[in-house]
Amino acid sequence: MKSAFSLLVLFCFLQVRAGHPEQEHNKTENSACPIRLKPNGQCGDNEECPYQVTLPPLTLQLPKQFKMLERVMKDLQNLKEDLSNLKRSCLECKQQADESQPRNTDEAPTAEDETGNDLKEIQSKLKKMSISLKNTKNQINILQSSSQEMNEKKVEEIVNNVLQNKLENCPHDCPFMSALKDIRVFYTDCSDRYSNQEVKNGIYLVTPDRHNSSFNASCDMESFGGGWTVIQRRVNGDVSFNRTWKEYKDGFGDLRGDFWLGNDKIHLLTKAKDMVLRIEMEDLDGVREYAKYAQFYVSNEYLKYRLSVSSYSGTAGDSLHFSKHYNHDQKFFSTPDKDNDMYPSGNCGSYYSSGWWFDACMASNLNGIYYNKKYKGVRNGIFWGTWHNISDGQPNGYKQAFKSVIMMIRPKNFNP
Ligand SMILES: *[C@@H]1O[C@H](CO)[C@@H](O)[C@H](O)[C@H]1NC(C)=O
Ligand SMILES: *[C@@H]1O[C@H](CO)[C@@H](O)[C@H](O)[C@H]1NC(C)=O
Ligand SMILES: *[C@@H]1O[C@H](CO)[C@@H](O)[C@H](O)[C@H]1NC(C)=O
Ligand SMILES: *[C@@H]1O[C@H](CO)[C@@H](O)[C@H](O)[C@H]1NC(C)=O
Ligand SMILES: *[C@@H]1O[C@H](CO)[C@@H](O)[C@H](O)[C@H]1NC(C)=O
Repeated sequence: MKSAFSLLVLFCFLQVRAGHPEQEHNKTENSACPIRLKPNGQCGDNEECPYQVTLPPLTLQLPKQFKMLERVMKDLQNLKEDLSNLKRSCLECKQQADESQPRNTDEAPTAEDETGNDLKEIQSKLKKMSISLKNTKNQINILQSSSQEMNEKKVEEIVNNVLQNKLENCPHDCPFMSALKDIRVFYTDCSDRYSNQEVKNGIYLVTPDRHNSSFNASCDMESFGGGWTVIQRRVNGDVSFNRTWKEYKDGFGDLRGDFWLGNDKIHLLTKAKDMVLRIEMEDLDGVREYAKYAQFYVSNEYLKYRLSVSSYSGTAGDSLHFSKHYNHDQKFFSTPDKDNDMYPSGNCGSYYSSGWWFDACMASNLNGIYYNKKYKGVRNGIFWGTWHNISDGQPNGYKQAFKSVIMMIRPKNFNP
């Protein structure tokens, strides 16, 4: 919604820039179409199409924190300066014209009249533009002061209201209806979907970075307040997690079953908003525990998808910061074919058949092998080192396995 909103703000600005006050519309049209929108040229690479739009006062309640606003203000200021420069040079030009005017009124009346008319036209245009600018600036000022109590949810409500309800009442031949189809509404993650009243678990298209591609995500809209974007799920063992760097980068598995969303996508999601990580686990005895981290971020591929995770709470224990020597925070991602771990004499990813933020090597590995019963040998199953009884028994005895693991993220400031 934020992005749709930024489009609206942008449109608001572009209308001013277009500066055709004569296109401020007649009453009949206004009452039929609360919003007028029309293409005003070619779209740029960055999807910022030069549309112009006239908004009902309702939509002009901008949140103060909105970055676009600053830009609009700055652009307005620049435009104003351009205008006054133009005005000045116009005056100079007129003075020059006056001085160099031939005294012979029989010879050059036509030329003189034309010049005079051009100047008058430009001046009146400039005047209209200044008025239009001033109006917009006033509006923005009003918004800025009235926006302090506005929260993001309210803005979304308003945008929804305008985009859906209001526009539905418009006659189909409304000129902006076709242009409207070109507007893309972006949902950063599942929490945006949830805020858009999409409250059923399922697969939803999300766009954490609107300059990058959209992708499908599995959304948990029902647990713990909903709005969760699931980044990993192990529920049936149908999908092998013994995968390459490339596969972990792009993601693999089945969004409706077991899957890894993909490191690039996780990076984009955690870059777009400050995220909370919630891990839900259930062992073979049906014991369910969770670990929650109030801060979770995964760097880009260049930084080897380094993990930043902190502020634990929960019941399962903090296995990502198990001890000084087993600490997954700030560790790079490793896979069986890419050794970025802290273990000098081998590759943890290869040893444990998994991609993870290995230290040397691990106190947790939620991408380990899915066993549906206790197992012996190398502890290469799904592992959470602070799980109760996990280290009980003989070193070569049976090892605890897990029935299900889910890793999901949600913006820190999300209010269900
Ligand atoms: C106002 O809009 C109506 C309907 O589109 C049109 O018939 C009328 O000529 C317009 N009036 C002016 C002053 O533009
Ligand atoms: C998302 O999933 C739907 C079906 O659930 C599919 O039609 C669509 O192509 C997918 N989109 C992307 C970007 O993968
Ligand atoms: C993991 O994959 C590698 C490469 O395909 C393979 O050699 C290895 O046996 C696999 N490990 C397990 C436990 O399946
Ligand atoms: C899209 O995101 C990926 C992953 O972070 C990045 O490698 C790529 O450069 C991005 N593309 C654009 C156009 O920003
Ligand atoms: C496992 O831990 C629970 C408490 O967390 C304890 O009651 C139980 O006896 C333990 N089981 C074994 C087999 O050690």
